[in-house]
Amino acid sequence: ERAALPVTVRALVARASGAGLAGRAGTPAAPGPGEVRVTIRAAGVCHSDLSMVNGTLAPKYPLVLGHEATGVVAETGPGVRLAVGTPVVLNWAPACRACWWCRRGEPWLCADTTSPTVPRGETEDGVPLHLTLGLGALAEAVVVPEKAVIPVPAGLPPERAALLGCAVLTGVGAVHNTAGVAAGESVAVIGLGGVGLAVLTAARRAGATTILAVDVAEAKRDLALAAGATDFLLSDDRLSKEVRARTEGRGVDHAFECVGRAATIRAAWRLTRRGGAVTVVGMGAKDDMVSLGALDIFHSARTLRSSVYGSSDPDREVPALAAELADGALDLRVLVSGTIPLDEAPTAFDRLARGEGARWVVTL
Ligand code: APR
Ligand code: ZN
Repeated sequence: ERAALPVTVRALVARASGAGLAGRAGTPAAPGPGEVRVTIRAAGVCHSDLSMVNGTLAPKYPLVLGHEATGVVAETGPGVRLAVGTPVVLNWAPACRACWWCRRGEPWLCADTTSPTVPRGETEDGVPLHLTLGLGALAEAVVVPEKAVIPVPAGLPPERAALLGCAVLTGVGAVHNTAGVAAGESVAVIGLGGVGLAVLTAARRAGATTILAVDVAEAKRDLALAAGATDFLLSDDRLSKEVRARTEGRGVDHAFECVGRAATIRAAWRLTRRGGAVTVVGMGAKDDMVSLGALDIFHSARTLRSSVYGSSDPDREVPALAAELADGALDLRVLVSGTIPLDEAPTAFDRLARGEGARWVVTL
């Protein structure tokens, strides 16, 4: 039974794997208890969104894409403390603060965020809609729990603030929280999209002195150097040799995999020194298996870890990053390759699939 007509908004809806992106989404007529309606100002197109439409991941359809966004609280439900008009960044892993992981200080692994998605809202023709990571942020507006929004200062450039919610928090967190890169260390970053470029920026800020950026696309060279890399290397047969030549024959202290493929996880492994650490930031496919030699695992004494949402507490770290964005300490201009209106958002997916640019951001 529907109490009131839903509010229909323009949104980027994937109907099925490989199908076109278009449409409108019906959102709840009013935010429920503990919920807010956010008017979206800017939303980045992340490779995970592409993975939801090209068959790499198998989400439920129809699906509203998008999970990296900023906007303004437009309406609040009962019991919400945030005021209408508050600028916010969306959080795709809102912590319950009560589960086993939250209580031990690992909110990025909150049990709630791994629970199956329930439909929310519906398409114009009445089919229940799923929202990417509970957000579905490539839309004019979303209705989400209050805990899925993080207040940020007013006046931030929206196309940069949006990236705090995924690429930047993930990249910066991977460097600081997951890997713990220290001044003077050497780093390799494989895959130079929004996430990899954010890792480069963070590695530079952490004081890493050798920062090797690796990609299959030569076109990423200038972006990488602008983001903080000391060197750009093409991902080819000579890669291991080139990395060793720049690390006194040892390999890097830290390798970051920012593609999401078994082949690049293996490449990251090979580029890392004995006793070094591989941090997997990319989200790969379920059946893409990584194979490593048992003797090599023992002998190399390397650590292999993944970094989910930068092993961060977004409620604490997004406001800190937002403050740095506001005062200029964090320069994200190189991460934004351009802005695109919502109706032309499929163009951003094409560019991302071709490996063009850094982040393409939909602005509203
Ligand atoms: N070796 C090196 N680089 C590669 C390779 C490879 N074999 N294959 C692809 N790349 C590069 C692409 O050229 C591109 O520059 O990886 C980069 C990926 O960038 P994006 O597509 O922009 O992806 P991004 O949004 O940064 O996400 C990276 O993190 O969050 C996860 O799901 C996301 O797995 C994805 C990863
Ligand atoms: Zn993302």
